Amino acid sequence: MDSEKFIISGGKRLEGSVEISGAKNSALSIMAASLLTKDECILRNVPHLTDVEIMSAVIRKLGVKVEWINNDTLCIDSDNFNNYEAPYELVKKMRASILVMGPLLARLKKAKISLPGGCAIGARPVDFHIKGFEALGAKVEVEKGYIEAEIHKLKGNDIYLDFPSLGATENIMMAAVLANGTSVLRNAAREPEIVALAEVLNQMGADVQGAGTSAITINGVASLKPVSVTIIPDRIETGTFMVAAALTGGNITLVGADPDHQGALIDKLRLTGAKITIAEKSLNVQGPDMIVSVDVKTQPYPGFPTDMQAQFMVLMSIANGTSLISETIFENRFIHVSELKRMGADIIISGNTAMVKGVSTLSGAPVMATDLRASASLILAGLVAEGQTVVNRVYHLDRGYQAIEKKFAGLGAVIKRVK
Ligand code: UD1
Repeated sequence: MDSEKFIISGGKRLEGSVEISGAKNSALSIMAASLLTKDECILRNVPHLTDVEIMSAVIRKLGVKVEWINNDTLCIDSDNFNNYEAPYELVKKMRASILVMGPLLARLKKAKISLPGGCAIGARPVDFHIKGFEALGAKVEVEKGYIEAEIHKLKGNDIYLDFPSLGATENIMMAAVLANGTSVLRNAAREPEIVALAEVLNQMGADVQGAGTSAITINGVASLKPVSVTIIPDRIETGTFMVAAALTGGNITLVGADPDHQGALIDKLRLTGAKITIAEKSLNVQGPDMIVSVDVKTQPYPGFPTDMQAQFMVLMSIANGTSLISETIFENRFIHVSELKRMGADIIISGNTAMVKGVSTLSGAPVMATDLRASASLILAGLVAEGQTVVNRVYHLDRGYQAIEKKFAGLGAVIKRVK
């Protein structure tokens, strides 16, 4: 575990342009999808993140070659894909490792994956994934901390998800593309990462219809061919910088963002008084003179993303009025609250709702968080707080934000990484 930290001197108005990196979550599922063909896939615009390195390690363990062929391009060669086990040492580091299960069943007909277990933001079970694979004909057993699955022949089926889980939708889609016959996935997740994955699968020769709606139809095909693809922009990184503009009364242009993916956040930020100008592949956010409190409830896409809840709460903590923030996706996703309170925020939690009474200023303090987005919220709080904030456990941020301190420094923030 590293001991790096960020030291931030708050109070600077952030101004300028920032380049948005490729989407972490889309890169992870498309890396897994590359296992569905035995030839080389090329993935461009892949962000340099610890989570991408962990997924690389997981698929290397399966016998697959993964190489950076230039600064942002990964080459994945699955010719020698022959091992069906994803061990505890890797899966425990990243829950999304489970995404190799669909491709394993489709290609090797066998999978042994360590159970991801609980994590900082809730129990996060994998029962929907398992239910989907069973519906496609897999025999699944959970034993000694591992999910073991075997399949004679994948067979298309109708699968209903009790909740539109992003990971389960992706995993089941990746198995169903090589099944015999048609599968219909109902109550499917509708996130942009699902649409991106379906597009990649279709480029590989799959037949996936309806991605982006709640019913996805997959007509199985016999085999898939390699692709060369570009990862979509990261909507959570985009959102984090949008909130930074609003929070510091700044003016930030997000270059390479996809405004279509930011609907809920654009609406909420406009209600706070921020001015947002939308172009085809960029967005400009001008912070308001006075931030107005608004209520937010996290929901599956296109609702307000749970991955932006902590960052938005920081904005509400210095808004004019009181805001109710409800978290409906994950239990226990308010771990940032106690740290924000140490910086002077006035927040009361009742069940899955936080009541945030705006205060006039936050004050710098040493803080730490135990997950990625909570850590991002502490950076934002540090940027607007009076005095110095030290954000410990930077490795959480390195999982999901590429060069975050350099990007903020480029906008005028005073932030440095120290050992
Ligand atoms: C993905 C994202 C994560 C984001 C989350 C919700 C990746 C790598 N991660 O996580 O950043 O916060 O979507 O937008 O893409 N659930 C079950 N059983 C299951 C699967 C999920 O009960 O088998 C529950 C979860 O505990 C949670 C809800 O469903 O309460 C949504 O989870 P899900 O959409 O699956 O999240 P992930 O795909 O893990």
